[in-house]
Formats: sequence, structure tokens, C-alpha cells
Amino acid sequence: MSKNIIFYFSGTGNSLKVAKDVAAAIEDCEIISMGKSHKLSGIYERIGFVYPMYAGGMPIVVERFIKALDLSENKNSFIFAICTSGSGVAGGLTNISKIIGGKGGKLSYGESIRCYSNYVVLYPMGSDPDNKAKAQAQATKQVIKDIQSMAVKTIFKNSLMELIHGLFIKSLANKDKGFNVSEACNNCAICSKVCPVENIKMQDGKPIFLHHCEQCMACVQWCPKQAINFKNKTQNRGRYHHPDVTLTDMINEKS
Ligand SMILES: Cc1cc2nc3c(=O)[nH]c(=O)nc-3n(C[C@H](O)[C@H](O)[C@H](O)COP(=O)(O)O)c2cc1C
Ligand code: SF4
Ligand code: SF4
Repeated sequence: MSKNIIFYFSGTGNSLKVAKDVAAAIEDCEIISMGKSHKLSGIYERIGFVYPMYAGGMPIVVERFIKALDLSENKNSFIFAICTSGSGVAGGLTNISKIIGGKGGKLSYGESIRCYSNYVVLYPMGSDPDNKAKAQAQATKQVIKDIQSMAVKTIFKNSLMELIHGLFIKSLANKDKGFNVSEACNNCAICSKVCPVENIKMQDGKPIFLHHCEQCMACVQWCPKQAINFKNKTQNRGRYHHPDVTLTDMINEKS
């Protein structure tokens, strides 16, 4: 058993990259996807959660994962959360603080890291992924120092973010009804393999969406043929994934 463990959720690699950088720096650290439930066994020095901010808060799967996690043996661990987002606004942290507090643990440290904004359904992709990746790496360095020294950082309540999140987050699961698959699809099944919540099955050589979507954009962004689109919005928009994260990383880490 390792001394430290980090749970992550990631569609386009920003959060996976942060999780890997932190894990490498604190050493003796496992990285586990929050796509499936997990049973903690043994006592960890540090337990971390790294995930993207969705609509001002946590992805549904992350909330469900943490609620189901048995922390009874780890109430005294140093528990931290890192939320990656396009804006760098610290939404997505107050709720996790509440959930962990309700389990008898304490969220000792929470921080948000500004990254490339990946929600291609809503807006075109920006043109500067390498600079954004550099800025992300720079911001991660400070967070690593804090986590190495087990610094405490209070999480302030963000009522506006909580309101926005409550209004929008539940609508995401069915948004995959808006996905369409073009003739360019070559039946490679990458979309199905990269989906972190098993929301895609291959049928007659084409992906079928199962309506428990997180809108993480992994399928849209990693499809090598750009064959998955949302309604008529994304056909002419570019695609993004973190420049230092490969498809193999995404699929291997997930399993
Ligand atoms: C469904 C969805 C909702 C998002 N909502 C927000 C948001 O409210 N605020 C924000 O700053 N970024 C938002 N983003 C951008 C992501 O939080 C950001 O790009 C994140 O770093 C992606 O992480 P990943 O590469 O690990 O998936 C959203 C992205 C998606 C896909
Ligand atoms: S990743 Fe793209 S090309 Fe491959 S099966 Fe899925 S939709 Fe088709
Ligand atoms: S179907 Fe696509 S957008 Fe939805 S959770 Fe799976 S990979 Fe993410």
C-alpha cells in the first residue's frame, strides 16, 4: 500500500496532469480514477481529489464518488482538493468540504488551478494551449509545495457558484442526446475507451450514448476523426487536450 493516494477525474487531461505532477512530487502515491467506486483499505498520510470545475461546482460523478468513499479509517489524514477550471475561480470546493466534514474528516486544503478551458460545446477552443499548459504547470508548483508541507488552507463558501451549479449541473447527464456521429467515424472505439464513466457502447461500428453523460468532452476532444459533434455547434471548432497528456495516459490511468 502506498502512503498517499490521489483520486482524479479528467476529460481532456488538465486534471490528470495536475494529479500526476502532485503524485510525482509527494512520492509513494497511487492515482485512481473517480469513474468507478473505490474501497479505501489502510491508512493514508495524504488523500487528494483532483477534478475539473463544471458549472461552478463539482462534476456529478465526483460528488457521488466522494459521498460513497469510506473515510472511517482515514479521518486524520491530510485531505486536499484541487479544482481545475478555465477561469481559475474557486468554485467546486465548498461542497467537497461539506461532504468530507459530514463523514467526520476534514478538508485541510483546497485550491483551484487555472487551465485551458475545454467546453467546446459552448465556445471555440482557444489558440494558446502551450502557454496555458505552462501557466498550469507554474500554478501547480505552488500547490505541490503546500501539499508537501501539508499546509492548511481554509475553503471559503462561494454562494454564487453554488447557485449556478445547482441550476445547471443536473441538466448535463442527458446532453449526450445532442451528440451526433459523422460519416468520418472509422469504428476505432477510442471514444468508448476514453469515456471515464462508461457512457458509450459501440453498436454496428458506431458509438451509442447511454445518457449518464458527465459532459467531460473526452469523446469529442479525443476522437481522431473529429467525428463526434454537439448538434451543429462544434463542426468548425478546434479540438483540445492537454499537450503533455496522451490518449494512452488517459486510457491506462482510467483502468
Ligand atoms: C461541462 C463543463 C463545464 C465547465 N464549467 C466551467 C465553469 O463553470 N467554470 C470554468 O472556469 N470552467 C469550466 N469548464 C472548463 C473546465 O473546468 C476546465 O477546462 C478543466 O481544466 C478541464 O479539466 P480536464 O482537462 O481535466 O477535463 C467546464 C468544462 C466542462 C466540460
Ligand atoms: S473515436 Fe471517433 S472515429 Fe473512433 S469510433 Fe468513436 S466516433 Fe468513431
Ligand atoms: S459520453 Fe463523452 S462527454 Fe459524456 S461522459 Fe463520456 S466521454 Fe464524457
